[in-house]
Amino acid sequence: MIKVISSVPEMVRFCRRVKERGQKIALVPTMGALHEGHLSLVAAAKAKADILVVSIFINPIQFSPQEDLKKYPRNLRRDQLLLKPFAPLTLFNPSPADLYPKDFDTYVEEKVLSPKLCGQFRPGHFRGVTTVVAKLFNIIQPDHAFFGEKDFQQQLIIKKMVVDLSYPLEIVILPTVREYDGLALSSRNSYLKPGERKSATILYRALTRGKEDIESGESDAHKILLNMKRLIAFEPAIRLEYLVIADPKTLEPLKRVRGRVLLALAARVGSTRLIDNLVVCPK
Ligand code: PAJ
Repeated sequence: MIKVISSVPEMVRFCRRVKERGQKIALVPTMGALHEGHLSLVAAAKAKADILVVSIFINPIQFSPQEDLKKYPRNLRRDQLLLKPFAPLTLFNPSPADLYPKDFDTYVEEKVLSPKLCGQFRPGHFRGVTTVVAKLFNIIQPDHAFFGEKDFQQQLIIKKMVVDLSYPLEIVILPTVREYDGLALSSRNSYLKPGERKSATILYRALTRGKEDIESGESDAHKILLNMKRLIAFEPAIRLEYLVIADPKTLEPLKRVRGRVLLALAARVGSTRLIDNLVVCPK
């Protein structure tokens, strides 16, 4: 059975009762339009705790006014069908007015990692993410919360928030689930026209090229990035927002590859914004 709760006080009461029984809660926060990437988190969460909670909430405050909030895919009935194999579970599906009443004015902001990479192009985005995730943690009080490595910067910022604000819970990070041709699954892939969908595969191929260069001993970040950019340039429909080799803990760009590094990119394919990354270690 899938128990659907949309009221915040009802969710608080439900989670409090669960905890009083001594049961553990695993939470998977999502914005819906579920795909196999989300479902990999749900499967891991189900294995970890007594009570599984999946939240579906398209968080308006993490979208800037010119972004895709209005057209973001919404299909609660389809999402429920996809979640059925993981029942019993509780689906938390509040409305924007439930989480952000008119007089809402308190935000949670991580200051150091958030302005980097995606933060340069989406000011305020991570403040919206940390605020809603903090609210979900407060309402649900999970023992474990599950996030994807696909949103590398997001998971790093959430882990930092959990440490800084002393949330007594474990964050679990799972690897990126990809299509057969390497494209990272994303709810936004549904925006891609057939030609764009084909062009988008170059992003993972470029990351793979960077990984191969690093594994074969190249350590000059400039050279590695140049090879990746040359590949992406074959696809005129793609405009890079950023492509970096960075420290996976601080997100600071690196000139030399010494240990584990993050290869990360954001690009527009037509008007659709996609992100992807790989964590790579020299052999
Ligand atoms: P959303 O984009 O719906 O993603 C929900 C979770 O699924 C995130 O932790 C994300 O990293 C993970 N995910 C997405 N694509 C994935 C893939 N291909 N493989 C593995 N995991 C994947 O991220 C958000 O929602 C929101 O910012 C949220 C955290 C819910 C706050 O509003």
